[in-house]
Amino acid sequence: MRIKTFEQYQTAYQQSVEDPEGFWAEVAQEFQWKKPWKRVLDWNFTEPNVKWFEGGKLNITENALDRHLADKADQPAIIWEPNDPEDEAATITYRVLYDRVCRFANVLKKYGIQKGDRVCIYLPMVPELAIAVLACARIGAIHSVVFGGFSARSIADRINDAGCKMVITSDGAFRGAKVIPMKETVDDALEKCSTVQHVIVMTRTRTPISMLKGRDHWWEEEVKHVDANCPAEEMDAEDVLFILYTSGSTGKPKGVVHTCGGYMVYATYTFANVFQYEPGEIHFCTADIGWITGHSYIVYGPLCYGGTSLMFEGVPTWPDAGRFWQIVEKHKVDILYTAPTAIRSLMSFGLQYVKDHDLSSLKKLGSVGEPINEEAWHWFKHNIGKDRCALVDTWWQTETGGIMITSLAGLTPEKPTYAGLPLPGVQLMLVDENGQEIEGNDVSGNLCIKYPWPGMVRTTYGDHERCRQAYFSTYPGRYFTGDGCLRDEDGYYRITGRVDDVINVSGHRIGTAEVENAINMHLGVVESAVVGYPHGIKGQGIYAYIITETKPDDPEMFRKDIAATVTRVIGPIARPDKVQFVSGLPKTRSGKIMRRILRKVAEGDITNLGDTSTLLDPAIVDEIKDGAL
Ligand code: WTA
Repeated sequence: MRIKTFEQYQTAYQQSVEDPEGFWAEVAQEFQWKKPWKRVLDWNFTEPNVKWFEGGKLNITENALDRHLADKADQPAIIWEPNDPEDEAATITYRVLYDRVCRFANVLKKYGIQKGDRVCIYLPMVPELAIAVLACARIGAIHSVVFGGFSARSIADRINDAGCKMVITSDGAFRGAKVIPMKETVDDALEKCSTVQHVIVMTRTRTPISMLKGRDHWWEEEVKHVDANCPAEEMDAEDVLFILYTSGSTGKPKGVVHTCGGYMVYATYTFANVFQYEPGEIHFCTADIGWITGHSYIVYGPLCYGGTSLMFEGVPTWPDAGRFWQIVEKHKVDILYTAPTAIRSLMSFGLQYVKDHDLSSLKKLGSVGEPINEEAWHWFKHNIGKDRCALVDTWWQTETGGIMITSLAGLTPEKPTYAGLPLPGVQLMLVDENGQEIEGNDVSGNLCIKYPWPGMVRTTYGDHERCRQAYFSTYPGRYFTGDGCLRDEDGYYRITGRVDDVINVSGHRIGTAEVENAINMHLGVVESAVVGYPHGIKGQGIYAYIITETKPDDPEMFRKDIAATVTRVIGPIARPDKVQFVSGLPKTRSGKIMRRILRKVAEGDITNLGDTSTLLDPAIVDEIKDGAL
């Protein structure tokens, strides 16, 4: 499965287009299957219905763990760096990880979890998070990891949507100088959930928490009393592996569903090739396992490929802005995969936090989550990569399961701010508003994918129609990414950002409708409209226009109250950065908000607002312009 030269990439790409089934069958052969598949691919993008390796039987944990025991049992699978640099790091070998996963899988079984049951995981970045994920996969339970920054209400929504039977959490979490409650948040969430029967609680901060008899159980106690052996459940390639919630342009977050076979093949193939992973290298992906990047490039990709994955509990700026560089030095990290927002934030602290650290172990750098601006690209390449490390800018989505557009570290030419070329198996197309394909180079349009790849979303949990609507209905017969994109004269792709009502704040996907719903719940709010605007560190910030029943007496306090409501409803990541109180919103006669105008004002570009003659009340535009923040 390994591509080693640019020419090999070109050949592989060619083959993957001419004979996709042959291509992926060859890659899939390198994994351990309990039974071979009967059919490589069955698909249509109308229902949609996508099946890879149908009839094939496997368990992803046998690929991530068991098969490495023969020759890599004592190699580190996970290196864990705690929040506090004074605390001791942990090294978990493949043998130990295998053992801990099997034991914990038996705890899940003891509390009635069976194949197909859904388990919610709400944990900080501790090894137990990876162990819980793998333990679910071991017995065929479907994990739904919820990022630690979400509110009780968001957890409850996700638990209820998936009908989870169990929650796995910790007493608290360390994040920089803060101690954050976890179990307490779960307790609040569970007030609204009737499907959860058991909660397993891992000890991290040893903060006092409530433990309900019959429902709540300590992780450390439970693993003492179970068998060390746990046979891997036989899964069909198309059985669900996990659900991961993500925001779209409408409604509540949807549960993106990934299945066992295709996801395994795709996450591993992309990990091996994009980062050109060599045995023994230390791969440090700074994402949280609560997001897809952590699923694919901290847990499944590296482990299925027999690599060593470094997991970091803390934040990049505590105790100081040199924390990443100190980790690189301490663990001799070879590959550093992070996000533009982190790079920009660390840039702003200046080079004094970089210069005292030995970064000579680094060979490859990666960026993900949002478009990387030229300045951040060069800073990363020059000051961290010392101009000798490869830098890959990887474009992909929760729905794609793995990286789609990127350069291959050291093999394909790099172009600052360009993700680059599609990986083998990825058939891209740019379309105009009418869905017409835009051919040739030096063009731009909306980014679609015209052929299935193994890691793609199969459905949205509990609501297949929503999956069709969200991804396959805008341009019939195509998967629509929601991103705008340009293809330059050399055929390189550059992602220009979302063209729908999704904003990308510090690499976190947030639907504007979700934030509006939260704001509208606040006492005294009549209506609101939320748009993104360029933000120096976060990439995009959240700008909210709010109509209130009466003019707020203390606008500053009102803004803070609104932030508190949004934090309670969604979580701190969705708090508006700017709030402008308005007496009306620019609506067309049919009642549609003209977001284009709101975006322009939020961007500070009020010179050319375009045609406003179709507005119900054009005067409102002047008021909004005058009050712009
Ligand atoms: C954006 C994260 C530009 C894009 C893996 C996409 C990017 C959304 C890049 C998915 C990149 C991700 N360059 N934009 N390299 N990577 N995006 O689901 O808008 O959290 O649609 O997946 O992030 O975000 P998600």
